[in-house]
Amino acid sequence: MPDSPKHLLLVEDEAPLREAVAEQLGDRGFDVVQADSAELALDALADFAFDIVVTDLRLPGMDGTRVIEAAVDRYPDIIGIVITGYGTVKDAVEVIKRGAADFVTKPFQFDELWHALQGAIEQRRLRTENAWLREQLQQRFSFEGIVGRSRAMRDLFQVLQTVASAASTILITGETGTGKEVVARAIHHASPRRAQRFVAINCSAIPENLLEAELFGHARGAFTGAIANRQGRIEQAHRGTLFLDEVGTMSMALQMKLLRVLQEREFERVGESQTIKVDVRVIAATNADLAKMVAEGTFREDLYYRLHVIPVTLPPLRERKEDVPLLVQHFLQKYCGELGRPVMTVSQPALRCLMAYAWPGNVRQLENAIERAIAMSGSRTQVDVGDLPVDLQGTGESTAKPALDLPAEGLDLHALVAQIEKDMIGRALTRTEQNKGAAARLLGLKRTTLVEKLKRL
Ligand SMILES: Nc1ncnc2c1ncn2[C@@H]1O[C@H](COP(=O)(O)OP(=O)(O)OP(=O)(O)O)[C@@H](O)[C@H]1O
Ligand SMILES: [Mg+2]
Repeated sequence: MPDSPKHLLLVEDEAPLREAVAEQLGDRGFDVVQADSAELALDALADFAFDIVVTDLRLPGMDGTRVIEAAVDRYPDIIGIVITGYGTVKDAVEVIKRGAADFVTKPFQFDELWHALQGAIEQRRLRTENAWLREQLQQRFSFEGIVGRSRAMRDLFQVLQTVASAASTILITGETGTGKEVVARAIHHASPRRAQRFVAINCSAIPENLLEAELFGHARGAFTGAIANRQGRIEQAHRGTLFLDEVGTMSMALQMKLLRVLQEREFERVGESQTIKVDVRVIAATNADLAKMVAEGTFREDLYYRLHVIPVTLPPLRERKEDVPLLVQHFLQKYCGELGRPVMTVSQPALRCLMAYAWPGNVRQLENAIERAIAMSGSRTQVDVGDLPVDLQGTGESTAKPALDLPAEGLDLHALVAQIEKDMIGRALTRTEQNKGAAARLLGLKRTTLVEKLKRL
């Protein structure tokens, strides 16, 4: 049953209890990742879309309430179960208000937890999406239509907020599809220039010989085909924002002229001698390494420093996969809305595939994948693994890696090693289609040793 919830995060600081519970859950087909503190649990949640989180309420350091809050906040459909001490039912009620599905009180029999779990899974199956929670997520983690919840993106929102109001030049760097253009537009819309124009020009899309006239405008007869006087993009952006996309592809000669615009805010149209003064804010973008181009002599150093006044770097999506669930939600809303259909949900296995993928085309590629998945899903209300592009399918089924950091409070090495062992054996067996001999070779073990270990697992 690939679709039944089985990825479970178990947070409990009492090691014997935790291990006993983990073992029994494992026997019943759950894939359990253990954590002995809320801090570790939060790390695990940042990396992996668990279906279920079972957490003790009282933990050393941060308490279990935070785990539930963080889990529900990130994955509105996650099932949260709380373990509380005797006589602390009031706390349990409080956590349920924050999104946990049920609780058990200590000491408990495994069956009690099992029942709570089964009940919650059933309840979740029947429950329709929680629109309100989703809306909350959107509001807190966005800036002018750019969404993101990762540290990098929240820092970026802060920077954008402050730089938008200034007139300084901004250089946006990032791989293709990371959102350079949306960021440029967002800055314009958050700036005092918002009532004026945002003029974009892609320097790599216009042939070199036409780019100059396109940027600076030209006089009638300045060159063949110049049949009338024409304003360039720079003039059009007067009092507004000029967005120079792919600025790294500009010729050295044009770079020189652009530098003058940035320094003196003046220029001449091609074929004219009259100097024109402009008030523009320039935002430039590139996916090239301009510093390297400067070193190689293909980009002017003085222009580089002029542009580089406020550098903004957009990290690739693979380095901020916490943003994936939020972006998925954002695009589901966008495209379902355009089609006039109710906003779809996405299954946890599908979300796992989306989070495990490396996204070489970044957010643009993710957006395309979601748009396509909606089309593939027919009349279903949930996007599933089969709706995703084939190269994404099957990327999300491996078990979550246990955190490999040594936490300040120490860790349970045996449990960690056992978890890694189990994980690797599982992967080897999957890859070899359950061929024990081949799996043993992959792991550098004797076949008999592997069989031994499998018996113990
Ligand atoms: N953080 C984000 N939130 C919402 N949408 C985003 C985000 N980042 C990118 N997008 C969307 O992804 C698509 C690609 O973004 P954009 O065109 O800004 O990328 P780019 O960095 O300019 O790419 P390229 O270098 O290929 O021109 C757009 O449709 C944009 O709306
Ligand atoms: Mg772009």
